[in-house]
Amino acid sequence: MSRSPLLTPVRMGSLDLPNRVIMAPLTRQRSKQPGNVPYELNAAYYAQRANAGLIISEAVQISAEGQGYAWTPGIHSAEQIEGWRKVTQAVHDADGRIFLQLWHVGRISHPLLQPDGAAPVAPSAIQAKAECYVQEPDGSSHKAPTGMPRALKTEELPRIVADYAKATRNALDADFDGVEIHAANGYLLDQFLCSDSNQRTDAYGGSLENRVRLVLEVVDAVIDATGDSGRVGIRISPMGTFNGVDDADPRETFSHLLRELNSRGLAYVHVNRPDWVGGVYEGFDSLLETLRELYDGRMIIAGGMTAESGGQAIEDGLADMVAFGRPYIANPDLVQRIKTRTEWNEINPSTLYGGAEEGYTDYPTMDQSAT
Ligand code: PHB
Repeated sequence: MSRSPLLTPVRMGSLDLPNRVIMAPLTRQRSKQPGNVPYELNAAYYAQRANAGLIISEAVQISAEGQGYAWTPGIHSAEQIEGWRKVTQAVHDADGRIFLQLWHVGRISHPLLQPDGAAPVAPSAIQAKAECYVQEPDGSSHKAPTGMPRALKTEELPRIVADYAKATRNALDADFDGVEIHAANGYLLDQFLCSDSNQRTDAYGGSLENRVRLVLEVVDAVIDATGDSGRVGIRISPMGTFNGVDDADPRETFSHLLRELNSRGLAYVHVNRPDWVGGVYEGFDSLLETLRELYDGRMIIAGGMTAESGGQAIEDGLADMVAFGRPYIANPDLVQRIKTRTEWNEINPSTLYGGAEEGYTDYPTMDQSAT
């Protein structure tokens, strides 16, 4: 049997990856409290998965305002930077590479998660048909409908862009190899991109050029903050409806965005399939082909991929790298399993969010299963 195309090395921006297997960003809600601080347990989890060509961290809030779920980590306090250093050190000691995912949830939040109980912020004051995960003052936690957001004023947007740049500098300070801008899955930047959630009448809403403006400003600010566009990636989810977003013409929106990104020299564009949470999205595969043709750089595809479909995507030229989410949660040694064509562990859905070691650092490797 021939070797999987997933296992061949690839140059990606300023990095050489030993394989094309990417660990997808995965919310696990396991930072140390109070303060949403990464700690030794998180370092152990990521180090177990350092076999990936690249690890993309879980989504990390760039500011207190950017948080939408209890116990997700941030990159805006000194303690958090210090905590992330433990993670990057552990991954580098295990010969891995790790990017931090820069996250602002926008309207996918709730006053209980916001500084001073404020309303979440969004392009427009339109409530999402979605849920977030809140923590009550008494410490109890539960799912809740997202709160009614307030529309960001035009003069506030430079502050949002600056928060992305600051978080990027913090990530580099914590020794990350680069950053991924989260512009997918119905969070703040995707809310600006999608016509349904962006009803603004200023230079950041309405026309295609206007809806894409904030994302490009963030991309340029983040490149500037790293001083190396080859250490910056971006994640998008064309046609996605997760978290209640909807765009009238995803083909037009995302073709325009990728044409604009061509001149930026990014490490990669990371496309999340819209059906990653189920559902049928007719026309997505043809849209992906179009995006692939018009984008000049490296592309990652993610969402329900298997060793077979991932290898095929690379062979067909549809992607350069393939990201695995749920399989990487359950299989710390995923690359080794692909190499040896060994069966994958099943995931336990009840331990995905919150808690400690169980369902986090205790999934067995092949060697551990064999003994
Ligand atoms: C989640 O926390 O459920 C989540 C976070 C980021 C995503 C998607 C889902 O991109």
